[in-house]
Amino acid sequence: MARWTRALVTGASSGIGREIALQLAADGSELVVVARDGDRLEALAAEVDVPCRVLVADLAEPNELSYVEDRLRDVPDPIDLLVNNAGLGFQGAFHELDLEREATVVDVNVVALHRLAHVAANQMAAAGHGGILNVSSMSGFMAAPGSATYSATKSFVTSLSEAMHGELEPLGVHVTALCPGFTRTEFQDRASYDISGIPDFAWQTAEEVAIAGLRGVAANRVIVVPGTTNRIGASLINALPGSARRFAVGRLAR
Ligand SMILES: NC(=O)c1ccc[n+]([C@@H]2O[C@H](COP(=O)([O-])OP(=O)(O)OC[C@H]3O[C@@H](n4cnc5c(N)ncnc54)[C@H](OP(=O)(O)O)[C@@H]3O)[C@@H](O)[C@H]2O)c1
Repeated sequence: MARWTRALVTGASSGIGREIALQLAADGSELVVVARDGDRLEALAAEVDVPCRVLVADLAEPNELSYVEDRLRDVPDPIDLLVNNAGLGFQGAFHELDLEREATVVDVNVVALHRLAHVAANQMAAAGHGGILNVSSMSGFMAAPGSATYSATKSFVTSLSEAMHGELEPLGVHVTALCPGFTRTEFQDRASYDISGIPDFAWQTAEEVAIAGLRGVAANRVIVVPGTTNRIGASLINALPGSARRFAVGRLAR
């Protein structure tokens, strides 16, 4: 794994983001960890053996997001790896879900990620070095009924990352989209997803996903789909023509 000097990880209070922060700390990177739950972030900071600064921020709130942007602009103490991991989604028919909650999904998964990626890319391009790991999802490969907003936000993340990768590669900056499938975290509970029908083999741990993402951005891979089952699934979905893909995804989403 590449040794990053200082990483900023959003959504580090639980799940994949927390695991990414732990892996980075084990590799000697200093940390800035961001989420709303300050107690959990403080507990993480106490657990690691590297300098770890806690930044409590609700990324759906423009004022709080701007503090995080400012931290990325802090040139004397530069961040050379941004992990845009914070994210959420809700299950249900788009027109029946609460509009304000759905708008929050767009605010965190798209608006915050987009702004932080822009600020970080600007700094890193000037420095001629850096990495941006955007946590997307397998959902970004499919327009899944029951997760319309979430799937659309993750398509955005994968597409943005792919284009940024091409622009920034010649400038020495790595950009990678990490596209996990089912990962055991708090995500499904928070999203009210019914996971009863998902077989054990389909699941990965947050640690497996975190390691795959960090290896991917170190190697400057454009898209990382962690796990053999997910890679086979992604290849099949991407190979199907539109109508067959919609049929298959519709069956899976039931
Ligand atoms: N688990 C899966 O199956 C799966 C699959 C594919 C992709 N992903 C993606 O992986 C990423 C991490 O999710 P996870 O599975 O680790 O879920 P998780 O355990 O629920 O973690 C989500 C993280 O995002 C943070 N977050 C949520 N809303 C926020 C807000 N408004 N402001 C700041 N931070 C916020 C949470 O922190 P606070 O609550 O403390 O703010 C938490 O640290 C997400 O982008 C998700 O879409 C997950």
